[in-house]
Order: sequence, then C-alpha cells, then structure tokens
Amino acid sequence: MLIRASLLSAPALQELHFEADGGLLVDGQGAFSDTGRFEEVAARHPELPVEDLRPCWILPGLVDLHAHLPQYEAVAADGLELLPWLERHIFPAEARFADEAHARATARRYLQDALSLGTTTAVLYATIHAEATDVIFQEAESCGIRAVIGKTMMDRHAPAALCEDTRTSLRQSEELCRAWHGRDGGRLQYAFTPRFAPSCSRELMLGAGRLAQNYGAFIQTHLGENLQELEWVRELFPEADSYTDVYRRFGLLGPRTLLAHGIHLAPSERNIIRELGCNLVHCPSSNAFLQSGIMPLRRWMEEGLSVGMGTDVGAGPSLSMFREMGEACTASKLKRAVQQVQSTHLKVMTGLSEDQKFQVSEALDLNPAPALDGTGAFYLATRGGAMALGLGDQLGALGKGFQADFLVVDVRLSDPFGQASTDPAQVLSRLLYRSDPRMVQSAYVRGRRCFHRA
Ligand code: GUN
Ligand code: ZN
Repeated sequence: MLIRASLLSAPALQELHFEADGGLLVDGQGAFSDTGRFEEVAARHPELPVEDLRPCWILPGLVDLHAHLPQYEAVAADGLELLPWLERHIFPAEARFADEAHARATARRYLQDALSLGTTTAVLYATIHAEATDVIFQEAESCGIRAVIGKTMMDRHAPAALCEDTRTSLRQSEELCRAWHGRDGGRLQYAFTPRFAPSCSRELMLGAGRLAQNYGAFIQTHLGENLQELEWVRELFPEADSYTDVYRRFGLLGPRTLLAHGIHLAPSERNIIRELGCNLVHCPSSNAFLQSGIMPLRRWMEEGLSVGMGTDVGAGPSLSMFREMGEACTASKLKRAVQQVQSTHLKVMTGLSEDQKFQVSEALDLNPAPALDGTGAFYLATRGGAMALGLGDQLGALGKGFQADFLVVDVRLSDPFGQASTDPAQVLSRLLYRSDPRMVQSAYVRGRRCFHRA
C-alpha cells in the first residue's frame, strides 16, 4: 500500500522537512521502503494501490521519554511542590498498584490515551510492584506501542506500603528485565528504575547499575528537579561532590541513562553528563506545575548535552506530547524574557564593577539564549527522543529505512477556520500551541495501526 499525504518531520533541531504532496511506502518489516514526492514514489511502484489520506498530514510518532503510568489517576493535583506532592498525592496512588486489576485498567486507559494523542514510543515508570509492572508490559505488548518500562525501585524514605527490601527489589527487577527486555524484536525494552537518590540506598543503586550493564538495559531516574530535593541529597550523600556525582559513584551513568528534569545543574555536573553520554529529559509542563523551575534548555544543548522530552505524567497534567512541545516553547520564551529583563537591570545597576557584573550574569545565567521554536520542539519530541534511546538512525523521521512509526493528523482541527493550510511552519506552530485532542486520526508503530479514531 502506497500512502499519499503531506509529510512533515524535523530530522534536525533547525531543519523542517516538508513534502506537500508526499508518498510513503511501508515494507513487510515495518520500515519505510520509499518516501518522497508522491508522483515520483508512485512512478516507482505503479502496481500498488494508493491510500489517499489528504488533507491529513503524516508526522513521525512522538517519543515521550518520561512518564509515570500509575500516576494517571492523580494528574493535576495542584498546590504543592515535589516532595509534599509525592507524599500527599502520588504515593497513595502508587500504593493502589498492589491491586493487579486496577493496574491493568489504568494501563489500558493510559496506553490507549497516549496513542490517541500521538505517542508511539513511551518510556514509563511502573511502581515497586512486580506484578503490576508485568501487567503494564503485557498491555504494552498487546496494544502495539513501543515502550521502555521499569519497576520503580525504592528501599528507603518511602511509605511502608512502597518501601522494598533491597535484595527483593534487585531480584524482581532482574526477573522482569529477563522476561521483557528486547521482546518483539526490540519493541519492548527494560529500564532499571531507581526512583531518585533520596529513596535509594547505595547498595540498591550499585546493584541497579550492575544489572543494567549486564543486560544492556536502560536506566532511568530523576535529577536536579527541585531545590528542597537538592538539599536533601546533599544531606544524605555528604561524600558526593554533587547530585550527579551520586549517580556517577554508584555506576548509574552512561549512554543508556535517562535523567528526568535536570533543571538545577552545576557546570561540573553538566561535564559529567556530557562526558558519560547520558541523556536529559526535559519536562516543561511538570516543571511549571510543581514550581520546580525552568530548565536552561538551549544552554544545555549548546553545551552539547543530549536532550529529549517527556510529559512526566502525573506532574505533567496531560499525556499529549503536542502540548508538551508547546509548553517547551513557552518555557523557553519565558526564560529568555526573564534573562533579558534581569540582564538589563544588571547593566544599569551602580556599585558593581564590570567584572562583578559579568560574574553575576554568568552565575545567574542571564545571558539571553535564543528561544526554542516549533521546529526545535518537534525535533526533540521525535528524532531527539529517538537519539536519546540510541535509535536516532531508526526512529523519529520519515526517511527511507526508518521504522514506520507515524501519525495521521487532521491539521484542520487546530486551524481557527478548519482549513488545511499548506504553510508547514504555521501548521506546526498551531499543532503545538492549539493542539486538539481529536486531531490524531491514527497512530502506527512499525507499520501496524495501533490506534484509529472511529
Ligand atoms: N522525583 C521522584 N519521584 C518523582 C515523581 O514521581 N515525579 C516527579 N516529577 N519527580 C520525582
Ligand atoms: Zn518523573
């Protein structure tokens, strides 16, 4: 089957690729075997029937690098910062995953909703419960989504119902990894998931790092999200130079490591992250929701750090990566505006030498960086996410040889007059800033349709 539609992708941070009248062919292995201008692709395959999807557009499937599936029932519980929010709203919701039926119902709903909003790859935290983690894998296997999933590990500073014995946590995580890592030709993968340093003993982190290394699995955790959290980590790990250094000491950092948030990072921490090839996950809606801060995204990227994007549900209120892209642009613009205002104030301040002003500007990051635009956000949510998973040559674009993970999007739903514009930058901007929950018509993973709007 040859598909005809407008094709839109962002294979690089500043590169929007658009084919107004495009053709797309998927082979039996679920990869794109031909793509380009419709007339040319059709001429190469005159025998094939054509599925004409116009005026819908085709986009690469979106990659959500960080979300907590069990927190779906607790989304948008507002008013608190990270640590009290975890205690008050999140731990009770996670404790309910001891009930397998509840876990299955939540997993089904979550994965269907994620696909319906355009997420074809999801990197997910489960809870400490091995059975519930297995159930999430089962549901991901049957619905067809591409997923990296891990049983959350916590052996201290957690409520009794969520606090594990260290050995049990390591053993159950290893069993789940053996059962699921690489399943269905690599569509499902395992991530060892020490929640964050405060809820993990040194032994647990060391063990998780070793296991991930043995199995070639991912590691996911949280880093540098909230100022109270930073203070707590300093108290708990006086031997470490920094929060990032805690993870480095216990063998958790490498190219298969996903570090969520990374808002508050000293230069030495950024050096470790870059040198060890770890990946940061930008979660702008969560960062705003929990009043955690604004990640200096552009600065981190200019320094050469690998960054993708995540919704961080339930701190992020929506499963939509379209919305998350809009939030990333908004956060980046606000960061720049604040930098401009403050650096202007600093310039006219008296009593400071030029040298002191320079030092303040550096320490407070007041040098305005250019704001993230729609193309950049689209890149981070597609190919950038794929790169963070080590799949940059296979996922996140519409080129020949890439995995056929794609969306059919009715772009008219984000247009004020229901029109199908042909200006790619304008359409993209509207998809991000005015996303409509009904605009994804279907979602495909490796050429298999996993979601279709009736
Ligand atoms: N840090 C540790 N656990 C969590 C969590 O569940 N959500 C967020 N946003 N940060 C965390
Ligand atoms: Zn999180």
